[in-house]
Amino acid sequence: MVRMIMFLICTVFAVQGAVAQESNPRFVRVQVDASFFDSGLFTYLKPRFTLKTQIRLERVLDGETDLIIVSGADTGIAFAQRDNTVWSVVATSHSGAQKFADWLTGQVGQTTITSFVPQTGSPFGVPTIDAAPVIDVVFQGDAARGYAAAKQKCARCHVVDNNRMNAIGSTPSFFVLRTFEDWALRMSGFYTLNPHPAFTIVEDVTDPFDPTRPSPIVPIIVTLDDIENIATYMQTLTPADLGAEIQHQ
Ligand code: HEC
Repeated sequence: MVRMIMFLICTVFAVQGAVAQESNPRFVRVQVDASFFDSGLFTYLKPRFTLKTQIRLERVLDGETDLIIVSGADTGIAFAQRDNTVWSVVATSHSGAQKFADWLTGQVGQTTITSFVPQTGSPFGVPTIDAAPVIDVVFQGDAARGYAAAKQKCARCHVVDNNRMNAIGSTPSFFVLRTFEDWALRMSGFYTLNPHPAFTIVEDVTDPFDPTRPSPIVPIIVTLDDIENIATYMQTLTPADLGAEIQHQ
């Protein structure tokens, strides 16, 4: 009987807990890649993050999750590396999860990661592989619209989807552009970078073409919103794996 009552109490608490957690911005359910967890780094990061933010992290193995730490650089934002393994963070829109992702990829989190002394194995560093730059410029446009705009306005020359290298000749694909450390800068000002000034009109920004040098092709017309959206789309792309043969320009 006592056991039965205990069971009931526990069940009620568990259910209440689950419901409360659902909408609790101060409680983040995290799925952690097993090798990352086994290193002890997650356990080291947890209290340090919570101390700063009052947001609690709890490891879950499956089910409802607010944030995932995965191995590899193909998904999310790479934030830690050990030997040849990179880990990335993927956050849902949960505000606490977003804060943890920002922390992990920001100055404080990165310093905390490198200060960790594992019991066994190499220390962790910030990701150094080219394919996974830490993103510090975050575009907040509409990626779906950006994709549509890129297909309409850039795809004539650039490959903008399906992670292939090139569309025409030497024109870099969006996946190659995305590998540049300063991709965000180049993207924001692409219309000032050759060859684009000759054929690109940015509404309310660029001057009219010199009448003696008309656009060689039907002009590409974009708004600043289009550019923000295209950059937001590019931000979601997995950078091309350049291997050794193509160097950064
Ligand atoms: C008519 C062909 C053409 C179109 C259309 C075009 N581009 Fe390009 N773009 C190029 C070429 C060619 C390069 C490579 C220039 C180089 O390497 O010197 C380039 C390079 C770039 C670069 C890198 C520039 C640099 O110097 O690092 C960015 C960013 C870029 N394009 C963005 C865009 C976006 C965004 C659009 C669509 C709104 C677009 N481009 C449309 C031909 C085009």
